Amino acid sequence: MPLLSETLSRVKPSPTIAMTNKATELRAQGRDIIGLSAGEPDFDTPAHIAEAGRRAIADGKTRYTAVDGIPELKRAICAKFKRDNGLDYTPAQVSVGTGGKQVLYNALMATLNPGDEVIIPTPYWVSYPDVVLLAGGTPVTVACGIDTGFRITPEQLEAAITPNTKWFLFNSPSNPTGAGYSWEELKALTDVLMRHPHVWVMTDDMYEHLTFGDFRFCTPAQVEPTLKDRTLTVNGVSKAYAMTGWRIGYAAGPEPLIRAMAKLQSQSTSNPSSVSQWAAVEALSGPQDFIAANNAVFERRRDLVVAALNDCAGVTCPVPDGAFYVYPDISGCIGKTSAGGAAITDDEAFATALLEEEGVAVVFGAAFGLSPNFRVSYATSDAALTEACVRIRRFCDGLR
Ligand SMILES: Cc1ncc(COP(=O)(O)O)c(C=O)c1O
Repeated sequence: MPLLSETLSRVKPSPTIAMTNKATELRAQGRDIIGLSAGEPDFDTPAHIAEAGRRAIADGKTRYTAVDGIPELKRAICAKFKRDNGLDYTPAQVSVGTGGKQVLYNALMATLNPGDEVIIPTPYWVSYPDVVLLAGGTPVTVACGIDTGFRITPEQLEAAITPNTKWFLFNSPSNPTGAGYSWEELKALTDVLMRHPHVWVMTDDMYEHLTFGDFRFCTPAQVEPTLKDRTLTVNGVSKAYAMTGWRIGYAAGPEPLIRAMAKLQSQSTSNPSSVSQWAAVEALSGPQDFIAANNAVFERRRDLVVAALNDCAGVTCPVPDGAFYVYPDISGCIGKTSAGGAAITDDEAFATALLEEEGVAVVFGAAFGLSPNFRVSYATSDAALTEACVRIRRFCDGLR
């Protein structure tokens, strides 16, 4: 009898984590490596939030809590949805988990039966299809190329819906492309969904606050209020509040779904860290002004990276609306040979040769389901980014 389950054989380990680990390994060997693969802000957690965590420890708030979140945090989340999105939720419609990832995992595990389909615009965040597979569902990926700005069109959504569609899994601004949907673009999608009442909407709003220029974030239940009864709105404190290590994510949706997610969590991790929950109360309820200050830094870096990549031979880099990623197209590099002699047969070969020859770690597009591309996370210092861009340019200019 094999030790490992068949379920596990359906999924692969996170390629973004694998790339970050490879960069760490090379650095440990003394190589000069610039990491552009990690999906987290390089800022520290703001002091007033960290202090709330310390206070929670000092006050003895270190015991088990309610499985899916302390009442204080659920109330803060309801207030956040009202303030930022104009959405009315009660604490009973809110679930708190160990990061947005666990919340998404709970929701898919709690709802998918064999044969259930989940529509995933592609490129996608690496975990979506694997979690769907783990839950026994079928990912239905829809290729959204550079021609539509990496956005799914209403026609594509309509064509992907079948009687077996359980969820439409939506992410704006997107990891890995940074593409965001305007109110009108989202309304065109919700109009399609209104014609298919059996389809539920899972919206991953993790990058809500990381937006630039004229782009205005909006979320499906806000754009089409009658969809709210079949929408799970997922969010978290990891990205906007620089709290990736605290592991707090949350969602709001219909009560029966929230109860099912809590049931699952009660038999896996139980409550997320009590200390982190108190810090998240402060994050959501305390001063928000640092977000704009951080965004100004991200926007400057975005512009730096987009301009530099568009200067590289064979590379086309659209300007994203948000998050801290760019997803350049490298069609013009495929089929060539690097200065170090590597055959650039696909985007994985490109990323591997770039790491080995120039010491720059990026994640290849195939990991996100759309090639040939690579993802740069520009959540790193201006100096590191500038140097990385010099190296990427040298690498691309050296392709023959
Ligand atoms: C689109 C998206 N959703 C969810 C998550 C998960 O966030 P968390 O760290 O809160 O689990 C991430 C993290 O990379 C993400 O990029």
